[in-house]
Amino acid sequence: MGRDLRAADLDLSEDLVNRIAGARSASVLTGAGVSAESGIPTFRGAGGIWEKYDFRKLATPQGFREDPQLVWEWYQLRQREMLKASPNPAHYVIADMERHYQEFSVLTQNIDGMHERAGSNNVVELHGSIWRLRCVRDGLVTQTDTPVEEIPPLCQCGSMLRPDVVWFGEPLSEDVVEAASRAAASSEVMFVVGTSAVVYPAAALPIITKNSGGLVIEVNAEPTDVTTYADASLMGFAGEILPALWKRMRRTESFMKEHPFIPNW
Ligand code: OAD
Repeated sequence: MGRDLRAADLDLSEDLVNRIAGARSASVLTGAGVSAESGIPTFRGAGGIWEKYDFRKLATPQGFREDPQLVWEWYQLRQREMLKASPNPAHYVIADMERHYQEFSVLTQNIDGMHERAGSNNVVELHGSIWRLRCVRDGLVTQTDTPVEEIPPLCQCGSMLRPDVVWFGEPLSEDVVEAASRAAASSEVMFVVGTSAVVYPAAALPIITKNSGGLVIEVNAEPTDVTTYADASLMGFAGEILPALWKRMRRTESFMKEHPFIPNW
């Protein structure tokens, strides 16, 4: 990891690079793979979280009802891990993309808050955030930037707080799905980065872009279902491929026309 991939090494035609760079609206769908190079483990595959931990106990409403102490211990551990980690070049390139495209959204399945820390502003957190706590009684949400201290944490009303994340068997918030679907439908290009694309409705978002006539560009360590319909699939580490792709895009004619006063580009 950390290898400096040369922009010219990317298997992308000049025409495709021009179309990606010349688009007005774009979005990025991210999954756990975008934070892997920050040291945050992914869910599936060898060494993945669901190989080590039982999701039924830790990431379902039933698991929380049965043992909130255990669930909170795990989330506290994850909060500590995530706080220690730093955004990697993939997060920073994505934050930079927001400054290039006229319309741009990050649609993330991650709960780690890394995109915001890297400087992205327009982030739709499809599965919630580990940095928000929600009262189980009245739904009141509070924000935090430090790991919980008392376990289980309590709301001012005395009821228990839970992580404001989406667990298995729970629906995503309607507002979030609507915002993400709208962004996907209006994107002339969607980058799909570091996701196995097996969890819905997130996995349907690139299909919406494709069906609306947009380009789908995948960046992932291995092939997924998205590979079967993507306009390009770049296989490798997101922290190496995205900087190389970004470098190549910044050299295109359309990019230079839009940013004529930016020096050193
Ligand atoms: P997964 O763990 O299912 O998939 C991560 C993907 O990233 C895999 O396809 C890896 O090959 C790829 N990958 C790993 N390291 C990479 C790197 N450095 N660069 C690029 N790609 C890399 O994670 P998600 O797709 O995010 O949901 O999982 C989706 C949802 O399932 C999660 O949000 C979570 C989980 O259960 C809930 O908890 C509700």
